[in-house]
Amino acid sequence: MLLPALFQCLVPLLSCDGWDIMTIEKLGDKAAATGYHPIQKQMVKLGGTQCGFCTPGMIMHMYSFLHERSGHGPRPKPSAQQIEDSLDGNICRCTGYRPILDVFKSFAVAAAPTDFHFDIEDVPLCAQSKKDLVGAQVEEEFELLHHEVAKLLKCKGEGEIWIKATSLQDVFDAMRQFSFEKVPYRVVAGNTSTGIYKHDEGGVRGFIDILNIHSLSSYVVTSDEIVLGSCVTIATVINVLTAASEALHGFEYLEGVTAHFKRVANTSVRNVSCDVFLP
Ligand SMILES: Cc1cc2nc3c(=O)[nH]c(=O)nc-3n(C[C@H](O)[C@H](O)[C@H](O)COP(=O)(O)OP(=O)(O)OC[C@H]3O[C@@H](n4cnc5c(N)ncnc54)[C@H](O)[C@@H]3O)c2cc1C
Ligand code: FES
Repeated sequence: MLLPALFQCLVPLLSCDGWDIMTIEKLGDKAAATGYHPIQKQMVKLGGTQCGFCTPGMIMHMYSFLHERSGHGPRPKPSAQQIEDSLDGNICRCTGYRPILDVFKSFAVAAAPTDFHFDIEDVPLCAQSKKDLVGAQVEEEFELLHHEVAKLLKCKGEGEIWIKATSLQDVFDAMRQFSFEKVPYRVVAGNTSTGIYKHDEGGVRGFIDILNIHSLSSYVVTSDEIVLGSCVTIATVINVLTAASEALHGFEYLEGVTAHFKRVANTSVRNVSCDVFLP
């Protein structure tokens, strides 16, 4: 499975088995043969960073956003509005966002000068900064990450057991085993409910990770129905329902459903949290 930008604080270490994780250091570095990545260079060039605390996360978010779009075949470059919407989960405490948005919007298709925001100090408009923004592009071809075939994983820690299932049969076997041994257990998908619903986790010692089960993370769209597995991420649901509302007769009402989904959490959470909603 290809997972885009996530909040690392919500990801259990054992969930990462088989993942290919890229950090800001891998993306680009002055010591690397290829130097800094175009997004990093653009961040510096357009003054999008101040204290720098949020900068790596912002850049990785943008990289993931562009990478994900290139991973689904030819698709138009994002619009300035799509880029702005995708940044709903990243917080900056000192730039006021305007320069960061300007950096990222420079990767949008046909970014118009009106897509950029200006500080009050910029009035009258500063020709120098605007000239650099319009039409900037990432030249790089994004590579798809290499993925291993998912395999069943069982890990035992101090009194806790983590099982990464690859089939529904694995899940039922694990449930049966935990029940038999009277081990309180929990199914884990995106794990984003952690911290929000703490009472959910009290005393749990068995964990059944279901993210690697293909049948749960698949979906089917036909002319008269859409079937979503319970591990399809909210981000994917938004994409699938948006496409259906635009292309399929009788599914136009899904535009309103996707508008609601876009209000749940933020991009980095929706990228991994599944469509099983909490009460
Ligand atoms: C910053 C933040 C903001 C949020 N904002 C909103 C919001 O605005 N609106 C909103 O509705 N929610 C919000 N949430 C909650 C979010 O929607 C849920 O955390 C998410 O939907 C849970 O999906 P998950 O895959 O991470 O589930 P997990 O955290 O892995 O699991 C959640 C529960 O569902 C069970 N479960 C998981 N998958 C399955 C399955 N396939 N079958 C049966 N049981 C399963 C688990 O055992 C667990 O009890 C927010 C969360 C965060 C972190
Ligand atoms: S540059 Fe300081 S938090 Fe964003």
